[in-house]
Amino acid sequence: MITAAPWSRLRLRRTEHLRDLLAETTFGSAQLIQPVFVVEDLIGSEPVPGLGDTARHGRAAALESMARDLAAGVRHFILFPVPSSKGTRALSFSHVASTVEAIKREFGDALHLWVDICLCSSTTHGHCAILDDEGAIDLDATLEALAQAAVDAASAGADGVSPSDMMDGRVAHIRAALDAAGHRQVPIMSYSTKFASQFYGPFRGAADSAPQHGNRRHYQIDVRARRDAIASSIRCADEGADLLMVKPAMTSLDLIGPIGEITGLGVGAYQVSGEYASLVALAEKGFAEFDAALLETLHVLRRAGAAFIITYGARRARALGLS
Ligand code: PBG
Repeated sequence: MITAAPWSRLRLRRTEHLRDLLAETTFGSAQLIQPVFVVEDLIGSEPVPGLGDTARHGRAAALESMARDLAAGVRHFILFPVPSSKGTRALSFSHVASTVEAIKREFGDALHLWVDICLCSSTTHGHCAILDDEGAIDLDATLEALAQAAVDAASAGADGVSPSDMMDGRVAHIRAALDAAGHRQVPIMSYSTKFASQFYGPFRGAADSAPQHGNRRHYQIDVRARRDAIASSIRCADEGADLLMVKPAMTSLDLIGPIGEITGLGVGAYQVSGEYASLVALAEKGFAEFDAALLETLHVLRRAGAAFIITYGARRARALGLS
């Protein structure tokens, strides 16, 4: 039996040059996507509690914030449009369309704009679906509404759409609607493995999308159900998704590799609001150094195989001088 020599592991961890030499993960602005909340009728900006420098913006303020991010090197954004009027069945996506139009008019192809497609900010009850009189999911009506939202976003100039609702069949439905409207080139980045989670709290305040009754466990995935989690991504791939995404990031780490291997598609991870807020809170309490903690989590997501990362820390990571 070989007895490992003393120092055999410690020797190569000793200096920064050696640690950098042996680092196997990197990421830069090309792999980071910055979320943006644009609230209809809001003037100026208001901070999102718990999320550090993240704010909800009125349209003009959003354009200013994105201009600063772009100048700092952020290239990818995902838009969360928050409408001021809500409905139950007949939903309007005019705020989505006009916001996308304004962003693309201002910045053109200097940025890549994904648009989150969901109904929870548009419905009075805050669920990601249209409900029937008994309160059950009306799947056909929901798919129609999601497809409409996606077509409106694409027609306004969105560079990609990103359905986050977790309704069966939505990717196929959206793909068909986009193609029929002449948007064959617009990719779908599907929230393909999205768990029911306690970690969406700060987001729901920002997006004004907290469910007014019940919870989302009847359409988001149970963390205990590994097969369902993988099959949901496979289903999205089969329905024509171009990119897949797991969320929350830390509750999906073990699934990124398998999903990528089975589907052959790029799989991203969404470091969701509660995960980011936990880093902010640790740092506020003096228990961690924020920047180092952020980078630590992003490297682990890359190590797990994430092709790209959606994080409220995209602009912060840029400020830290990443490529
Ligand atoms: C909307 C949506 C949610 C998130 C992204 N899109 C919230 C939810 O499903 O309740 C969460 C993002 C975050 O927490 O940062 N369907």
